[in-house]
Amino acid sequence: MMMKTLKASVAGLALCAAPAFAEDVEVLHWWTSGGEAAALNVLKQDLEGQGIGWMDMPVAGGGGEQAMTVLRARVTAGDAPTAVQMLGFDILDWGNQGALANLNAVAAQEGWDAVVPAALQEFAKVDGKWVSAPVNVHSTNWVWANKSVLDANGIAVPTTWEEFTAAVETLSAAGVTPIAHGGQAWQEATVFDAVAMSAGGPDFYKSAFIDLDAEALGSDTMKEAFDRMAFIRANVDDNFSGRDWNLATAMVINGEAGFQMMGDWAKGEFLNAGKVPGQDFLCFRFPGTVEQVTFNADQFAMFDQGGTVSDQQAALASSILSPSFQSAFNVVKGSVPARTDVSDADFDDCGKQGMKDLAAAASSGNLFGSMAHGHANPAAVKNAMYDVITAHFNGEYDSATAVEELVSAVEIAQ
Ligand code: GAL
Repeated sequence: MMMKTLKASVAGLALCAAPAFAEDVEVLHWWTSGGEAAALNVLKQDLEGQGIGWMDMPVAGGGGEQAMTVLRARVTAGDAPTAVQMLGFDILDWGNQGALANLNAVAAQEGWDAVVPAALQEFAKVDGKWVSAPVNVHSTNWVWANKSVLDANGIAVPTTWEEFTAAVETLSAAGVTPIAHGGQAWQEATVFDAVAMSAGGPDFYKSAFIDLDAEALGSDTMKEAFDRMAFIRANVDDNFSGRDWNLATAMVINGEAGFQMMGDWAKGEFLNAGKVPGQDFLCFRFPGTVEQVTFNADQFAMFDQGGTVSDQQAALASSILSPSFQSAFNVVKGSVPARTDVSDADFDDCGKQGMKDLAAAASSGNLFGSMAHGHANPAAVKNAMYDVITAHFNGEYDSATAVEELVSAVEIAQ
């Protein structure tokens, strides 16, 4: 009897030690830089701890355009991944097509409605159904600076456009590349988020990029924004064209350039290189936008698995929204938590600033979806703006022509 009982209990032990789920989760994403991969590992390890295997489907290409192209091909072939990294209006597009699973059961069980900011819920729900799990909140109106380069040239953190241009000119005169930039449309658009906000303020940004008001799009303020982009273009190095964003970040990390204007995923690269905020690098809001936040939240959209949400998808969603994961992941990623009840204790000074800025902007009406990262308008409009902004940056249009082209491109894309 004894031996039988022992065998049965060992067998039981063996069974419960087996992975909780027979299948892996296949996740399509574009987190392929050093800092992004480090953050992704936090999620992989979290799932492995629950016996959920991870089938990685990385598609390189900052901003996710290439990933969305691969996704469309996969869905067309009837082979959708379990979960996909997705932004803003892309989630709503797929959700409105009925392609995404209903996560309401796990959302209700875990009280997502009470802790996920309204600005994120706007992009995570379709017809009252949760269709994706918010992972973080990034924002694009940041500047990253090499502290010793600024100190060596007597430059203080600029708070106005004029102070910024003076700092750039000081670095240029000293023979230092003032601005590290990657010449790709999504990166120019990311810079344009902040430059336009700086040139025209929140009302202008909302009218032009969210409301698509033709007067705002065609205004003298928009021309000023393009003029400022021309100044930036004149102060990047000769090899900027086609450079990946994280290689531009590396130029600031290594002291080869003074500034990079980029979303706070750049912070993940500094951390991955062992750099310390306030000591090796500085993070500050793009001059003239210190009251505003232009945000983009990464979410994992779960594709419908034959009319239901799989156990793996529910477990993945639950892991993503757990407070412990929200802290551990975002500390590494450079973003801030997608829920409002996570402590900033484990975040560095840039992370603490990001969390403070988000809460302040949300309560003061200064929180706006990033045009560049799919949180202001659907992809057709976003891409039409990309085309004009990058054509201007590459000298195909002067600023006045760029304004005209922007008005007509947006009109056609709507
Ligand atoms: C953004 C995304 C970030 C980061 C960045 C660079 O769209 O939200 O997580 O991946 O692109 O690729």
